[in-house]
Amino acid sequence: MAPSPHPIPVLLDVDTGVDDALAILFAVAHPGIHVLGISCVAGNAALPQVVQNTLGVLDAAGAAPIPVAGGAHRPLINPARDASHVHGPDGLGGIELEPTTRATYEVDGHPVAAIEMMRQLLLASDEPVTIVALAPQTNLALLLRAYPEVAPKIARVLFMGGSASVGNATAVAEFNVWHDPEAAAIVLDSGVSTFMYGLDVFNRVAVPLEKAVELQASTRRAERLAGHLISHRMGVGAGKEPVYTGLIGDAGALCALVDPDALRTELVPVFVELAGATRGQTVVDRRRFPGEDSMHGLHEQAGYTEVALEVDAERYIDLYLSTIATLA
Ligand code: RIB
Ligand code: CA
Repeated sequence: MAPSPHPIPVLLDVDTGVDDALAILFAVAHPGIHVLGISCVAGNAALPQVVQNTLGVLDAAGAAPIPVAGGAHRPLINPARDASHVHGPDGLGGIELEPTTRATYEVDGHPVAAIEMMRQLLLASDEPVTIVALAPQTNLALLLRAYPEVAPKIARVLFMGGSASVGNATAVAEFNVWHDPEAAAIVLDSGVSTFMYGLDVFNRVAVPLEKAVELQASTRRAERLAGHLISHRMGVGAGKEPVYTGLIGDAGALCALVDPDALRTELVPVFVELAGATRGQTVVDRRRFPGEDSMHGLHEQAGYTEVALEVDAERYIDLYLSTIATLA
């Protein structure tokens, strides 16, 4: 792995979550990433569980102290929806982490909410910061609404979410965007540069089962954890039976951060559908010509987003495994 000359300053926003855990291991291990802080949000699990999981994974990674703060307990409008059928009731598929001694971010002995921590870290940074959002974008939307002055300090928002093809939560909507569609719409319309690592690539990057089993027997704690987490990445087969997927999931978005050349992307208009049966769909306009909608003045105004459409999956698996192999 070629070391990056200057690590990219990053704020992570997570709903840890099996694959957020895989992403955190990668983020703290990769020399090209400097994690300034981690904000937590309800999504794959309830917020208190997300916070505990995040602190525990940082322990398992042997990470240096990193500020972690809890944020939104629920989406802007939707109720929080249970994702325990994917991530287990504890968000980590029943994998027990050692009790953590880490605490959440405090100032003057008082816990600081996620958007306040994000504001402080963004304004204190000497250079623009990339926000890597691996969860419903509730915290980001609240941040941009409460503190619009931080926008110039955001290099871009690289988010796992959305799809230019099929969904997973619904036929057309991906979970993170579906969970809080208004939040995703606020971020996409904010004027901040955005990059979508959606299901089109997310569903491609998978570790073979034999490799996951090998990792479980590693002498290194972080690799053992990764092996168990990857083994928990199950899908549903045609007969509704559980099938191994081996997806590294959210961790792929961090691979995209440090190795964008393994992706084919298009810069295209994207908006979030907010109503009806397609609520939560990211409408990715890949047309190369003006349609009837724009000819008749009916065009939906949508900001441009760089959308990842194809990935060299083996390259990301190699990158992922070689990076976490550097952890103890
Ligand atoms: O749709 C994919 C998202 O939901 C990821 O963020 C992952 O954590 C999953 O639960
Ligand atoms: Ca997630």
